[in-house]
Amino acid sequence: MCGIIGYTTKKNNSVDVAIAGLKNLEYRGYDSSGIAFNSNEGLTIVKSAGKISNLEEKLSKLSTASNCAIAHTRWATHGEPNETNAHPHRVGKITLVHNGIIENYASLKKELQEKNYEFKTETDTEVATAYIDYCYSLTNNKLQAIVDACKKFRGSYAFNIIYEDEPTTIYATRKDSPLVVGYSDVGNFAASDISAILNYTNRYSLIDEGEFIKITNSVVTFYNKDLQEISSEVKTATWDATQYQKNGFDHFMLKEINEQPKVIQDIFNRYYTNCTYSDIDFSAFDKIHIVACGSAMHAALVGKYLLQTYAKIPAMVEIASEYRYIEELITPKTLLIVVSQSGETADTIAALRLAKEKGAYVIGIVNAVGSTISREVDKCIYTYAGPEIAVATTKGYSSQVAVFSTLALNAMEQKNLLTDEETNNIKNELLNIKDKIDYTLAQANTYLDIANDIYSHNDLFFIGRGIDSAVCMEGSLKLKEISYMHSESYSAGELKHGTISLIEEGTPVIAIATDNSLFEKTVSNVKETKARGSYSIFVTTDEHKDYNFDEFADKTIILPKTNDFAQPILTAIALQSVAYETAKLRNCDIDKPRNLAKSVTVE
Ligand code: AGP
Ligand code: GLU
Repeated sequence: MCGIIGYTTKKNNSVDVAIAGLKNLEYRGYDSSGIAFNSNEGLTIVKSAGKISNLEEKLSKLSTASNCAIAHTRWATHGEPNETNAHPHRVGKITLVHNGIIENYASLKKELQEKNYEFKTETDTEVATAYIDYCYSLTNNKLQAIVDACKKFRGSYAFNIIYEDEPTTIYATRKDSPLVVGYSDVGNFAASDISAILNYTNRYSLIDEGEFIKITNSVVTFYNKDLQEISSEVKTATWDATQYQKNGFDHFMLKEINEQPKVIQDIFNRYYTNCTYSDIDFSAFDKIHIVACGSAMHAALVGKYLLQTYAKIPAMVEIASEYRYIEELITPKTLLIVVSQSGETADTIAALRLAKEKGAYVIGIVNAVGSTISREVDKCIYTYAGPEIAVATTKGYSSQVAVFSTLALNAMEQKNLLTDEETNNIKNELLNIKDKIDYTLAQANTYLDIANDIYSHNDLFFIGRGIDSAVCMEGSLKLKEISYMHSESYSAGELKHGTISLIEEGTPVIAIATDNSLFEKTVSNVKETKARGSYSIFVTTDEHKDYNFDEFADKTIILPKTNDFAQPILTAIALQSVAYETAKLRNCDIDKPRNLAKSVTVE
């Protein structure tokens, strides 16, 4: 999703810093970009469709010495992704960049047109810009104009705003969309996330909803909606800019796949040395909902399986964008667990806010520290996977599964469902799981061999039963996201009830059978596809390494056997690796797949 950066400085490099910041926000996904910068010639706006390099090409022809700039990478929601609709937008005295959607822009546009405002673009953002200009014409007070306009806006926004007659001051505010303030000795920032400014400072403040910020190159002032000055905590980021670099890997995705051994081991180590959620009492609730989007929802499915099968706790998984349609089920006795890597996913935030309105208790499993979701849940369990830059999540997903595993273990211990021996066996396995993750990652030749077999196809099926079925969903999404190959995930027992009609000679089928109790049934299902000509890739554990696969498997992936609290992670890492190698063979843009955004901050 789009990125915003604003920088006002005592020096004259605001354009270079803003463009560098946009590049650190590219991972969020975009289709066009633009910048407004203050110089001796006044406030200049330069915009372009496509990559930031197109914008840089235009800027290279200009004098860009400047002490204040606001810049934007756009992910179009209203109006084509072209130069005209790109931000910044200027109306009257206002120049503005925006992340989000002004849902009632049409009615506001009509109201402004009746006041003789004319519009040049199809965007909701130009309407927001005009409305602030209109309010400014009424109040002649810059902050009040923004407060008054925001009262009229429905939807989501993070704004950076420059007034024509105050070209070195940036005004900022947010609702639902992310925005942070950054501080340095030579200037100050407002950006979508800290990654945009980490090369210049690690000191930042979070902006709460209903706060309005005035930023000069030496002072940042926070106001509430009544324009009373308020304080804001200055935080220090604990991570550094190198975590936003590929550090020798071809892609961020490959780097992040390879970070999983440490990330996962750290989660289990933290659980067994200092569990911060042993106070969660599932028995205090009469129902548990787990709500998320995309891969986070797939992690939720694994979590549901673990809670139900091992902790005997029924749970319902719901896609965040659908959750609002079952609101009658949400009560003060509901426990909602929301799962989000970015902590900024609009659909998940909407679900969380709905549940809180209904009095539910909300736990968040989140990676991005200080993100909106992490701040609005009643209890946040961080995955601490570190910044994830590739749009397709890998360590973000597997760390969510690992946290669910520890939640289930915690519940089992609370309910005395484990003997001491069982507890110790599980603990010993998980405290040494890194070796098995390393081994799984090391099977690179197998993954490349399979990628060579499947990359020329355009349809592929993932099948499995039980917990393997949940992991199939993530394997399928990974392949779709980065290789643009269509694939479907299907419960192995369900395929014969219709979809098997799509299996023809050579159709690749990846079957997962890591659960011993379901192994034979899954083999039967694979044979049903084999009988219709499928090209089958069978994924199982080394407990079956001597099984005769010849009859039904063209290729096999043999994973280390571990317990169900870690097995889904090993399986997922293998499928991530197959997807990565396949996308490479198809010459896809692996870190920034077409149409996708890292954090979907619009509904
Ligand atoms: C993951 O590979 C996808 N990019 C996407 O499905 C993602 O998982 C989903 O948008 C949820 O994001 P979140 O975890 O940041 O909330
Ligand atoms: N809704 C605005 C537009 O379409 C902003 C989209 C974004 O967040 O990039 O221009």
